[in-house]
This record gives sequence, C-alpha cells and structure tokens, in this order.
Amino acid sequence: MTIAIMGAMPEEIAPILEKVGEYKTTSYAGNNYYEAQYKGLNLVIAYSKIGKVFSTLTAATLCEHFGAKKLLFSGVAGAISSDLKVGDLIVATKLAQHDLDITAFGHPFGYVPEGAVFVESDKELNSLAYEVAKEMQKPLQEGVIATGDQFVADEARKNWIGNTFGADALEMEGASVAVVCDALNVPFFILRAISDAADMDASFSFDEFLETSAVQSAAFVMNMVDKLAQK
Ligand code: ADE
Repeated sequence: MTIAIMGAMPEEIAPILEKVGEYKTTSYAGNNYYEAQYKGLNLVIAYSKIGKVFSTLTAATLCEHFGAKKLLFSGVAGAISSDLKVGDLIVATKLAQHDLDITAFGHPFGYVPEGAVFVESDKELNSLAYEVAKEMQKPLQEGVIATGDQFVADEARKNWIGNTFGADALEMEGASVAVVCDALNVPFFILRAISDAADMDASFSFDEFLETSAVQSAAFVMNMVDKLAQK
C-alpha cells in the first residue's frame, strides 16, 4: 500500500526523510516527491510549501499521481486553546477554512455552496493515533483545526477564529488537504505540534520552536506508520 506523508515546510519532513534513510527523488509539478520502501509499505513524502494553494496541489498529486491510499500530515500549528502549549500535539477531528468568506450572501464563514464548513478526518487513523500516544506515553489532544492563508500573530484574530469555528489550533494547510482527501476518498490524518500561541509573540516563538515541534510531530507520525506497517 502507498501511504503519503506530507508537511508544508522542509523542517516538517526532514526528520521523516532521515528516519526512512534511502529514497528516490522525483520532480513533478514544480515540487519534489520522495519515494521510499519502509517496512513493507511504499511511502511517498513531500512538503508542499506554505498555504492552501500549494498544499492542495501537493495533496492532489500525492493521491492522483503517486497513488496514495492514505495521507498523514505532520507539522506545526499556533495554539488557540489555552490548554495547548509549545510542543503539545493536537490531532484534527475536523477542519475549516477560516479565511473563506462569502458571508455577504448570507452564508456562514468557511462555507461555499456545495461545500461544507467542516471536513472530518478519518476516525480509524485518529483512533490508531490514540494507541500510539498510549504506547509513547504522550498526551494527545484532539480538536478542531482552522486553516487560512495567514500567519496569525494577533490575539483578536485568533480569538475570532476560536469563537467562530470552535477551533483549538490554527495553521495554513490542513483544511485544504482535508478537502482534497475527502473529495478523492483518501482517508487522512492531520497532526500538529504547537510552535506558538498565534499572539503578538508568535513569529518569535515560531522561529524558536519550529524545528523542535516539527520533530515531535514527525516522530509521532512515524510511529503511526510503524503501526500501519504491522497491520
Ligand atoms: N503555523 C504555526 N503557527 C502559526 C500561526 N501563528 N499562524 C498560522 N499558521 C501557523
């Protein structure tokens, strides 16, 4: 089975490439894709570049061109919930686009006709994550993740996103990956480790903790892959 592992930034997939060791690099549609044999699975690994458009392209390519049958996303996020601190892990139960706005036509934020405000992630992969968390003795929080083409470094914007979508964390790719996987019937899993609190210190915190939080998330996702390889 082919499993896709995706991040948005080089730092988010570097620990994964290191763990798999050998891989073949293919350039396709303006991006690099890394294919590896790992414990009987075919892995295809890529970082998309930041934002909804690039992540949409990469997720669609992983599924349609490389034939991924499941997609696991690993990366970092800004915390909305005060329960989430730097380094904590959150798995998305559902995702929404916080910057999608046709409210002028009477629709709710995050909605366009024939779409839905929220896309739900795969329950089987999420419950596998709980098995992994238990074995790692690592706390794992689940919650709503809100996505937009905006690095949020503002308390008021963060609170608005939290209140409007009931969101616990925010980032810039999850919901677009969710839309692609949902449309293509590819079960998906979105994991994020907190790098900042999306407040006025967010850019400093992000720069300081991107790498360590990305490593936390990647280690967890690789344990998920190990579990999938045993099935
Ligand atoms: N990813 C990590 N931190 C973020 C933030 N504050 N805003 C958007 N995406 C993020």
